[in-house]
Amino acid sequence: MGKPTVILAIESSCDDTSSAVIVDGVLRSNVIASQKVHEEYGGVVPELASRAHQLNIMPVVDTALKRAGVAKEDISAIAFTRGPGLLGSLLVGTSFAKGLALALNVPLVDVNHLQGHVLAHFIEDGTGLHHPSYPFLCLLVSGGNSQIVLVEEDKANGRHLPKMQIIGQTIDDAAGEAFDKCAKVLGLPYPGGPWIDKLAKLGDAGKYPFAKPNIQGYDYSFSGLKTSFLYTLRDMLKEHGVETVDQLAERVPNLREDMCASLQATVVDILMRKLKKAAKDLNIRSVAVAGGVSANSALRQAFVDYGQKQHKEVFIPPFSFTTDNAAMVGQAGYFKYLDKDFCAIDEVPFAKTTI
Ligand code: KG4
Repeated sequence: MGKPTVILAIESSCDDTSSAVIVDGVLRSNVIASQKVHEEYGGVVPELASRAHQLNIMPVVDTALKRAGVAKEDISAIAFTRGPGLLGSLLVGTSFAKGLALALNVPLVDVNHLQGHVLAHFIEDGTGLHHPSYPFLCLLVSGGNSQIVLVEEDKANGRHLPKMQIIGQTIDDAAGEAFDKCAKVLGLPYPGGPWIDKLAKLGDAGKYPFAKPNIQGYDYSFSGLKTSFLYTLRDMLKEHGVETVDQLAERVPNLREDMCASLQATVVDILMRKLKKAAKDLNIRSVAVAGGVSANSALRQAFVDYGQKQHKEVFIPPFSFTTDNAAMVGQAGYFKYLDKDFCAIDEVPFAKTTI
């Protein structure tokens, strides 16, 4: 029996420090240290994120190795997120990965964070997750991205890493950004997406008819919806002669719940319309959703309904693989390792890069 292939993965693109271990393609550990320090600022503060990564990275990697029952001498390669993300945050993970790879004399594998989100659907975690077959469409929705990705087997090159092509994307804000900004206006904590999801369950999704974009092709736009949300609130404040959302909420019963439910339903409708159109036009049977916003309960339900009504095969990730995590980086790293697609030690991270 040969030596097992052990991939140590590191993710540090934003405000989660994460490390995972994949042994012969099976996920053995996935440790995530989330940073609470940003909550009081209503958004991620890049400098604070980098400092927190520096504090977290050693214990997180150490715990991932221990939980996996793997010694560092057993590592075959180190996969790390090279971008996109916050440069200072990426530098911490990249530098750590390089240092450890040099010390252990093992190859480095650079991973595109967005590809990682898509490849989360191939993680083998021992729970019998189903994997999409090629070709499939992936709706990638996070705080910084909203795109439809066509994922195809790379037959020409015989590679494990599939080919990915963006066929539609936001021309302004991302869906997660719209959730977070609207939540902020309502006085909800950061990140607002999960709060909107929670309050929406108690609200009337048809109460406020917010504006929907009219964009050609498979592209998205969320800036008009954000403005429509803001103006609806502004007009109500004026109408009731009050200055704050708290004062308005005393006069308008269920204000926050109804606004959240209406916003969520609008975002989900916008996202699903284009995805359905793309799947129909391209005659694709399998559709997946990925990224932080894929934790949204209404979006998950919309996928289930779509699958049942249109006889599509739908893939919804477990919650632990929706937000930033190193398991998905390890999965992408494992494919690239099998493809012998390594990264030179002097490569630098990218703040901005596409899939
Ligand atoms: O992928 P992600 O963890 O980070 C990056 O942007 O890379 O996504 C974070 C986004 C935030 O905008 C957050 O509000 C949103 O995902 N989010 C949600 C939910 N959980 C997280 N949005 C709506 N509903 C949720 N349940």
